[in-house]
Amino acid sequence: MPKFIINGGRKLKGEIAVKGAKNAALKIIPAAILSAETITINNIPDIEDIGKSFDLLIDLGAKVEINGARAVISTKNINKTELLPKLADKFRASIMFVGPLLARFGEAKFPLPGGCIIGAGSRPIDLFLEGYKAFGATIREEDKYYHLQAKQLHGANYFFSTISVTGTESLMMTACLIPGETILRNCAMEPEIEALADYLNSQGAKIIGAGSPTMKITGVDKLSAGTFNIIPDRIETGSFALMAAATGSEIKITKCSPEHISSLLIIFDKIGVNYEKGADWLLIKKSDNIKAHDIKTHEYPGFPTDLQSPYVVLMTQAQGTSLIQDIIYDRRLIWTDMLSQMGANIIMCDPHRVVVDGPTHLYGKKLMSPDIRAGIALVIAALVAEGTTEIDNIYQIDRGYEKIDERLRTLGADIERIN
Ligand code: EPU
Repeated sequence: MPKFIINGGRKLKGEIAVKGAKNAALKIIPAAILSAETITINNIPDIEDIGKSFDLLIDLGAKVEINGARAVISTKNINKTELLPKLADKFRASIMFVGPLLARFGEAKFPLPGGCIIGAGSRPIDLFLEGYKAFGATIREEDKYYHLQAKQLHGANYFFSTISVTGTESLMMTACLIPGETILRNCAMEPEIEALADYLNSQGAKIIGAGSPTMKITGVDKLSAGTFNIIPDRIETGSFALMAAATGSEIKITKCSPEHISSLLIIFDKIGVNYEKGADWLLIKKSDNIKAHDIKTHEYPGFPTDLQSPYVVLMTQAQGTSLIQDIIYDRRLIWTDMLSQMGANIIMCDPHRVVVDGPTHLYGKKLMSPDIRAGIALVIAALVAEGTTEIDNIYQIDRGYEKIDERLRTLGADIERIN
């Protein structure tokens, strides 16, 4: 299994460009199923989960031509509505194929999707199933498979009892091709959702209100060809910003949208992380005496659960005590035990709350990446730490961050991939 070997304690310096958003790309690829015409996607990140999404699409019968960060897709000849189990059960975003298949072909068969172990047990899909039922689909559960069918789908009024990013995107995509009007309430408002809606509207969809809690979608017969430029990854932007702050480095982050991480920048203002920003760049300056500050993760525009882990690392280097609350998932703070092994002073109050007392000196250790975001947090901790850290299971980092080792080396990081 490949590993990262990181020698910490160095300051980083230079510029790093942000890649296209993983969580936008993972929706745009299945959205190609909604149109029988040619779809072009630009700025695709070269990461594990994207490769699997393309493999799923190709297995369904689509034609995909990839040239660097651009893909040209034709789903005209899709001849299957069943997701290949050995791929679909490997990553959570495979669930994004279900709505488009149901909308275009009236049928979808899929296994329970896999992904990071951050929710209680396997991450639930009840909201998706409820939504498809509201659209008129019948659902059969057979031997770990779900089989959705519909002779005629119809628009619906659906209220999300829990705010869900992929749930909102799935029902929004499906409703685009369903006759009649759909109203979705208590929707997620992430920038990737708004970008997806703008793109679908450019193909002829009629979506109003994306990026707000209520959406109205009027179904159309078909969607035309489309081109989508994937927006910058706000979680990668925030991860790099937190990396700079935690290592006391000056780093310019380019090709990003600082406005998408306002919830983090507001905290930087309070804790003394100095920065400058423009429309598409962010310069994190060397900052001393960073102060501890509590956070509570929240759906967008609140503080993202995906930045909780790198933020915890920063708090181990900050002056004072901070309370970190992550209420979105049940198992997203368990990884902090590894930071304690590195020397951090962290008390787990319950699965949703940890208290961090800083600053503490961190030491290199042998660790294992449990999920994408805890994985990047361990990389940051290793860059802060004295000595050598070995991080195993880096597949879980490659799933979200393109060639992170190569890119960090350009900033002066001492990080090596051992195969
Ligand atoms: N939930 C349900 N039932 C459902 C769906 C979700 O109860 O049917 C619950 C979840 O268990 C969780 C809450 O709703 O407690 C919110 O989860 P959500 O559905 O919003 O998460 P997601 O859509 O599966 C996306 C991102 C995650 C990110 C979350 C929260 C993608 C592919 N994934 O997940 O990204 O953490 O939103 O912002 O868009 C990552 O990039 O590392 C990652 C995990």
